[in-house]
Amino acid sequence: MREFPSGNGGEGGGGFGPLPSAAREDDALASVREATAHLHADIDARLPIGGGQAKLADYRAHLRMLHCWLGMLAPLRAQAQSPCLRRWLEDITAKRELINSDLAEMFGADEPADDGAAALPDEARAQAFLWGAAYVVEGSQLGGRMLYQRLKLRLSPHPLRYLRGRGEETSATWRRFIADFGRQVRGENARAEAIAGATHAFALLHPLIARL
Ligand code: HEM
Repeated sequence: MREFPSGNGGEGGGGFGPLPSAAREDDALASVREATAHLHADIDARLPIGGGQAKLADYRAHLRMLHCWLGMLAPLRAQAQSPCLRRWLEDITAKRELINSDLAEMFGADEPADDGAAALPDEARAQAFLWGAAYVVEGSQLGGRMLYQRLKLRLSPHPLRYLRGRGEETSATWRRFIADFGRQVRGENARAEAIAGATHAFALLHPLIARL
């Protein structure tokens, strides 16, 4: 679903408002968006948690799937050369911890077994590839917030910590991410590498969703 809603970004709002104009004008970001829009739409359509009837069991399966996905992406951090990129990729670990705490909340100690790290493709040496993958991970927080608004009452009293993510800071954090992305991903080659990185991150999700 890339028909971005233009609601407000607060706790009660459904969307995150219009994207900042700096992002709209940024070629690399626009190219990555355009190149991966169909992959997002496919995921959105196939995720059981996205349906209006989602239950706690669906949330559990969703979290376990994401834990596995983020586990596959975590090794990318070791390839990051700039502290800025490293920090964004380090956040993958924090996201996995939120998932663990959500699983433990309702289901007791429930740390899922991962499939293990995905083999890093050769292109993962390119820094823009890593930025592309980080774009997908950070972007997924926006969808997470949508789901949080949709499910917080339905799945109450579960706190849905992972979906809530950074709460009201989600929008500001996204703006920071795309500003960093815009500064670091420049030029034709970098743009192609970022598209490859984002495509890689989306592609890892597909077989995991098929198992749900
Ligand atoms: C793990 C699964 C998901 C991934 C990897 C993912 C990835 C992304 C990415 C990369 C973006 C950034 C788009 C951009 O501005 O360039 C994004 C935004 C968005 N996603 Fe997802 N997404 C996921 C699940 C979902 C789901 C389930 C929904 C539906 C509830 C959703 C709805 C949205 C919306 C509405 C936005 C735009 C938010 C805004 O700017 O207002 N996503 N997602």
